[in-house]
Amino acid sequence: MNNLLKNKRGMIFGALDERSIAWKVAEKAHEQGASFILTNAPIALRMGTINQLAEKCNTEVIGADATSMEDLENLFIQSQEKLGGKLDFVLHSIGMSPNVRKNKGYTDLNHEWFQKTLDISALSFHKTMQTAWKLDAINDWGSILGLSYIAAQEAYPFYSDMADAKAALESIARSFGYHYGVRNKVRVNTISQSPTVTSAGSGIAGFDKFFDFADEMSPLGNADANACADYCITMFSDLTRYVTMQNLFHDGGYSTTGISSKIMDKMV
Ligand SMILES: NC(=O)c1ccc[n+]([C@@H]2O[C@H](COP(=O)([O-])OP(=O)(O)OC[C@H]3O[C@@H](n4cnc5c(N)ncnc54)[C@H](O)[C@@H]3O)[C@@H](O)[C@H]2O)c1
Repeated sequence: MNNLLKNKRGMIFGALDERSIAWKVAEKAHEQGASFILTNAPIALRMGTINQLAEKCNTEVIGADATSMEDLENLFIQSQEKLGGKLDFVLHSIGMSPNVRKNKGYTDLNHEWFQKTLDISALSFHKTMQTAWKLDAINDWGSILGLSYIAAQEAYPFYSDMADAKAALESIARSFGYHYGVRNKVRVNTISQSPTVTSAGSGIAGFDKFFDFADEMSPLGNADANACADYCITMFSDLTRYVTMQNLFHDGGYSTTGISSKIMDKMV
């Protein structure tokens, strides 16, 4: 399985540190022959270690706040200039909720923060695609991915307003996927990932417990960040050209398991 992304150009949002799902995607995309630009919010560039990743992948970092249309336009224009043409894949690996971060429960949300959650974690996906669309920055048969979580479909009380953001993110993938499919044969999907030990993941109250619960519920166990990155690579490759407007569960079977014997054995 070599060179699955040979001659492909891409953009990867959201590599903060080496635990980030986007970090693993970048490493694997590089291994598979892609060239790409790394991007993250200016504040994350100061805090994180993204420059080490850029060096390893022989690429550059362009800062952009994914909620700013101005930043996004500059990002797409510069990326095409640096990579030498239109892009073939985009990974949106962005999530942040001030309410989750400050432990505000769902029945006591700060609504200004809620709007920030939606803007950063969901609308930024639309803003990214609208910018690419207007600049005609994606090649025909390109692939755009966002990362989601099963709280978009089922109640996960601790996930607070991020659940609503993920529901919107998945809907945006379907809605934009329709238009991008018709105009450019570009596919748009979300991958709904198992709980994963990263900055965003472990910032959620009770993360350890629901990580273990999901692990024991899933016939295959939780999928880790490396496995998620593998799936992203296949979705960017030409092997998945007719998969679009889907929310793809990458969770070891968790989403379709009612109860597992491991969990049953814990009930007294
Ligand atoms: N970790 C999990 O358990 C899990 C499970 C399912 C889905 N996801 C999703 O995977 C994606 C990646 O998260 P991760 O777990 O790798 O954590 P992470 O913290 O490493 O990545 C989140 C990224 O979002 C970036 N970001 C935040 N605000 C931004 C802004 N305004 N503009 C641009 N970038 C911004 C951060 O800088 C960071 O790099 C997120 O969408 C997350 O919700 C994570």
